[in-house]
Amino acid sequence: MDIESRIEELLSRMTLQEKIGQLNQVKAPLKADEAVFEQIRQGKIGSFIMATTAHAGNDDTAITENLLINKMQKIAVEESRLGIPIIYGRDVIHGHRTVYPVPLASAASFNPELVEKCYRNIAREATADGVNWTFSPMLDLSRDPRWGRIIEGPGEDPYVGATMAEACVKGFQGDDISNKDSLVACAKHYIGYGASEGGRDYHRTEISDYNLYNYYLPAFRAAVNAGVGTVMSSFNDISGQPVTSGKKYLTDILRGKLGFEGFVVSDWDAVCQLKKQGVAENDADCAELAINAGLDMNMTDKVYINNLEQLVIEGKVSEETINTAVRRVLKIKLQKGLFEKPYCDAPEIDRTEHLKDARAIAEESMVLLKNDGVLPLSKNSKVALVGPFARERRALLGSWTLDGKAEETPNFAEAMKAVIGNNMLLSDDNIAVLDNSIARAVKADVVVLALGESEKVTGEAYSVSDISLPKNQVELIHRYKALGKKVVGVFFCGRPMAMEGVAEYLDAILYAWHAGSETANAACNILFGDVVPSGKTAVTFPKRTGHIPMYYNVTSSGRKVDCYYGENPQNCYVDSYPTPAFPFGFGLSYTEFEYGEIVSRTNEITLSDLKNGKSFNFTVSVKNTGDYDGKETVQLYIRDKIASVMRPLRELKAFEKRLINKGDTETFSFQLGYDKLGFYTENGDYTVEKGEFEIYIGENCLTTNKTTVEII
Ligand code: GLC
Repeated sequence: MDIESRIEELLSRMTLQEKIGQLNQVKAPLKADEAVFEQIRQGKIGSFIMATTAHAGNDDTAITENLLINKMQKIAVEESRLGIPIIYGRDVIHGHRTVYPVPLASAASFNPELVEKCYRNIAREATADGVNWTFSPMLDLSRDPRWGRIIEGPGEDPYVGATMAEACVKGFQGDDISNKDSLVACAKHYIGYGASEGGRDYHRTEISDYNLYNYYLPAFRAAVNAGVGTVMSSFNDISGQPVTSGKKYLTDILRGKLGFEGFVVSDWDAVCQLKKQGVAENDADCAELAINAGLDMNMTDKVYINNLEQLVIEGKVSEETINTAVRRVLKIKLQKGLFEKPYCDAPEIDRTEHLKDARAIAEESMVLLKNDGVLPLSKNSKVALVGPFARERRALLGSWTLDGKAEETPNFAEAMKAVIGNNMLLSDDNIAVLDNSIARAVKADVVVLALGESEKVTGEAYSVSDISLPKNQVELIHRYKALGKKVVGVFFCGRPMAMEGVAEYLDAILYAWHAGSETANAACNILFGDVVPSGKTAVTFPKRTGHIPMYYNVTSSGRKVDCYYGENPQNCYVDSYPTPAFPFGFGLSYTEFEYGEIVSRTNEITLSDLKNGKSFNFTVSVKNTGDYDGKETVQLYIRDKIASVMRPLRELKAFEKRLINKGDTETFSFQLGYDKLGFYTENGDYTVEKGEFEIYIGENCLTTNKTTVEII
């Protein structure tokens, strides 16, 4: 019997209570709980979330043991009336026991193939622990590094977001979602959470439909096109409409425009929060609004299981609406193969290759922001290693790390000692007193400062009002720069930090991020030249907090103040110069790359030819003129000069990362067809208009390497 028939056959036998039970997700117990077992027997639990707190990202949270997972599954399969298996979900965001970089860092790798490989590893490890479904990837576009959750997403660009969405979904779900080592993925938080006002978490958002379709939706569209099994709705409202009860978003757009066919799960307690958002009087209202909007599964607040049956009796919710939601949930459970393989046999996982991949992605994610030539360091140089992150472990794993173990994570001092032995002069600088750290540093050839931020000021419910480096760390920089030595800053951060008054004092800046289990080893490989840095930031680094929001794909103003591109920024603020500290797509190498002119095979194409599949073709040669083999991410941006609505000054439409050996020249080719030259109208219709387009191909969004083409 095919899946559709199996669904109908099951549905025909289900009572209304059993149907509603499939829409109820509760917290998994950490130990046997007879009351929970009885609810399973009665078919009142469709899913467990394995998390112990509302924002598990920064709290040590245990995982329900395999024995208990299988025990409860056995009750569902053998003791409930219909034997429908439970689906177990967990926040396996960017790693399991092996932890990969926070997603904002992985995006900086501009290597979706490697990201996919890493997320395949994650799925292998998590499914071995009994997880069927992960609440990842998080795809919230964000332009505000004050927001703690910017670290969980792909940054400020829709195209990078779309490429990372596809890579993560394919990595998690593998070739066949029914494979035992495949995780059902969950595109979240649909939609617009990253626009939280002031970067304050859980706050309101104002997003026009035009901006929704062109900035916030592309990553979700890519996830849907990649076959993502589930979507999680977001806490926020958009212009007064909570997404949790927003039929426009959950049904009209998500299903009508994107064609999503899986099921939608709410965020934690988000359905009952409709009361606080002022659109519902009581839990029954909450349930009615959410289920009628198209929200299928209710996470943790039990509003559905406690109210839907009565709402059906009262005629406020139709049983067909319930059936539609249940069909979606049953379909994922059947596609996952849970009916055939409901139990976890906890295979042993050899993590050797996973750790190698973790190091590789960490190396490719790290961004060299500044280098006056001091890097790479010689392994014979005496290095004074100073700073609060020299011995830090837990922060390197980043927020939303539930199953990684800090005690297994090498710290920077250990990693550096493994490379240069006693040439490392480790100092625990105590700012309060002039201790022997300074004395040691005087003997050193170079000072390396281990700086950064705790994972506990990033992630959910951890936003900050100021992204400046902590004052004691700035003091450290000034103090060691005063020695007249070369000073290298290595930043172990989740988000971009404001570098004004900091970058000027450092001779080199390696942004190592919270790059997971292998952060320290990867940073040392780069510092000492075993790896040439190739990361490019997927988010703008503003000079100071007051310049936020600052993002590259901005539209022009009527006055000449496009400060992002350096056009008369003085008119923006009289007290500062609001150009980016480091622009989107920026990252240095140890070698240099020289770009040739853009060659365009044709400079004009008719709109009808474009629609019929013709495309512009561009080639550009890139020569490695430096002393190291290195990887370069060549980026292609467009600017639609004149359109029926304002279009961004730059839009990333393609990139390719490739190794170019020193002295070699590589040719990069890019195609721009109908699908890359248009935009969505506020009605969500895709359109391409005639007119002139500037095409930029270069090393970051500020490249001046330009040509012009026209759609006629
Ligand atoms: C949290 C987060 C969401 C997470 C869920 C389950 O509040 O917003 O990203 O997946 O609850 O932990």
